[in-house]
Amino acid sequence: MLKDIESILIPQDKVQQRIREIAKQIEADYKGKTLTMICILRGASVFFCDLVREINLDVRFEFMSVSSYGAGTTTTGEVRINKDINTTLEGKNVIVVEDIIDSGCTLAFLKKMLEQRNPASLKICTLLDKPSRRKVEFKGDYVGFEIEDKFVVGCGLDYAERYRNLKDVCVLKPSVYTK
Ligand code: PRP
Repeated sequence: MLKDIESILIPQDKVQQRIREIAKQIEADYKGKTLTMICILRGASVFFCDLVREINLDVRFEFMSVSSYGAGTTTTGEVRINKDINTTLEGKNVIVVEDIIDSGCTLAFLKKMLEQRNPASLKICTLLDKPSRRKVEFKGDYVGFEIEDKFVVGCGLDYAERYRNLKDVCVLKPSVYTK
C-alpha cells in the first residue's frame, strides 16, 4: 500500500492535534447541551471516531450513507440516500461530520434535506476542505484543514475503497489512478 503513496500531506500527529482543537471548539459552542453527531459513511468514519472521543459532552451518534448520483467524475448535485437515520432531528443540536468537502454538492444537498427536519441547529464539520474544487457555494462550520487540489487518501479517505486505514493524510501517486 505504501508504495502507492507519493507523500504525506498531513502527518498523523497534526491530524490528531487539529481534531483536539476542533473538539474543544465544539465543547465551548455546545456547553451544557446534548449533541447529535451524524457520521456520513464511509469516508468520515475514522475522523468521526477520533473526534467524538475528544468531546466531553452528551453526544449521540447517528450514521448515514449517501452517494452522488451517477458514477464517474461528473456530479448532478443530486445525492442518493443509501442509509438514512431513523430518529427524529426535531429540536436537536446536530453536527454533520464529513471527511472532505470537494464540489460541495453532497453537503449542500444533505444540509438542505436535514434542515427540513427542523433541528434546533445544524452545523457541518469536515476534516478536509478543497475550496478550489467547489461547484456550488458551500462553507463548513468546523474545518480541519484547507488543502490544495491533490488526490488524497488515508484517515478515512479512499481510492477505489483502498487506503482508508492509513494514519496520515497522504497524496496518492498519479500512476495509481491514471492506470
Ligand atoms: C466523498 C466524501 C463526501 C463527498 C464530497 O464521499 O465523503 O461525502 O465525496 O464530495 P463533494 O463535495 O464533491 O460532493 P464518497 O462519495 O467518495 O463516498 P465515501 O465517503 O464512502 O468515500
